[in-house]
Amino acid sequence: MHVVRPAQRGGGRVGTGILGFDPALLRSIADRVGTPVYVYSANLIRAQYHALHDALSDVPHRICYSVKANGNLGVLKVLKELGAGADIVSVGELRRALAAGFEADAIVFSGVGKTAAELEDAIRTGVGFLNIESAAELDVVIAVARKRQKPSHVGIRVNPDVATETHPYTRTGEKTAKFGVPYDEVVAVAQRIAAEPLLNLRGLAMHLGSQITDVEPYHHGTVKLLELVTALRASGITTIEALDVGGGLGVRYHNEKAPSPKAFADAVAPAVKQAGLGLMCEPGRYLVANAGVLLTRVLYRKHSGGKEFVVVDAGMTDFVRPSHYNAHHDIVPLRDGNRPEETVNIVGPICESGDFLALDRKLPAVVAGEYLAVLGAGAYGFVMSSTYNQRPRPPEVLVEGDRYYVARQRETLEDLLRGEVLEPTTWYRA
Ligand code: LLP
Repeated sequence: MHVVRPAQRGGGRVGTGILGFDPALLRSIADRVGTPVYVYSANLIRAQYHALHDALSDVPHRICYSVKANGNLGVLKVLKELGAGADIVSVGELRRALAAGFEADAIVFSGVGKTAAELEDAIRTGVGFLNIESAAELDVVIAVARKRQKPSHVGIRVNPDVATETHPYTRTGEKTAKFGVPYDEVVAVAQRIAAEPLLNLRGLAMHLGSQITDVEPYHHGTVKLLELVTALRASGITTIEALDVGGGLGVRYHNEKAPSPKAFADAVAPAVKQAGLGLMCEPGRYLVANAGVLLTRVLYRKHSGGKEFVVVDAGMTDFVRPSHYNAHHDIVPLRDGNRPEETVNIVGPICESGDFLALDRKLPAVVAGEYLAVLGAGAYGFVMSSTYNQRPRPPEVLVEGDRYYVARQRETLEDLLRGEVLEPTTWYRA
């Protein structure tokens, strides 16, 4: 495990305008590329990475960016160039990480349901940490490694049974969750790995949940993982190089108290260092959430049932967090000027009542045609978008200083028809 030094410091604008974005630049993007559109700032991502990297500087470490949060190739390239590794959960993410230039050895592959084909791909590629999540999965990993006769680096994702106070959908570290090898089975699983000459047990990992705003569970989980390392060493297993404390570091979307990188580092790093191990972590949201906005245009105003509605051109298909998790995202107009505030429902065009970006929200009085920015949309935004209602998914733009480029084109109506046939060429019978 080595400390990866940052390749470059981000210059340019950080921390100005709309939470770090220049409103004039955002207006230019909305005019040129159209709305809805996701916009990411490379420099804001770099600033987050550097803050965490610096906080962890006392311990050999690697920050493995969680690709699921935002898999755009431009975003991945920014993080790869900073020296990050990648945390992935499917061969689709493996493909993306490799396409962006991540070294296979810097890739962590977790997930409770990796198929044999996925395990085969991961082993062939030589990922750095193939994290086993169950004894049954280990059987398949052993079979694939033997078939390929390929030595493989594996880790065990431990279920540490540590509770977190976060949304029930994103709690993953309690024993009732589907994730990780149950704590009391870890030593037995490790012994089976150690007995297989083709496998090298390199790490223990955990992932407690997402949007965690208290660092205490990280400390608790780290201590529990270190107890396992001690037990493994006592049983003769001395190959563990690193502890991976997972992702989940919370951010401030609205009025949450997000832990500082230093508080996180203090909770995990000293004990890991003292055990002579390297530290790995898998932040997704922390690195990209507040480095992204979703721009949308007001289509109509309407008044109904005593409510004021602002109908915009982005809906739950573009950004599902408000309706799926009831998540609060600040929304601001791009146009300046003092305007009276009103309380509105900001809703999309989808045929569901759950299709909203904000309910009962105070907003300066906006008019049809103007642009709004949905803040904190850099993580779990585009990646969770869908084409429901046959809506092409929005484009993604990456800002570098005072320039930007379209990192992903808007989907087209043709894209939505791809793969379907009106006249079958092959019919099958059972
Ligand atoms: N590592 C593993 C094994 C994970 O499952 C996750 C996220 C992460 C790392 C990164 O977590 P982060 O640092 O981004 O919190 N769609 C939800 C979040 C789901 C998180 C799933 N796993 C949301 O929009 O809040």
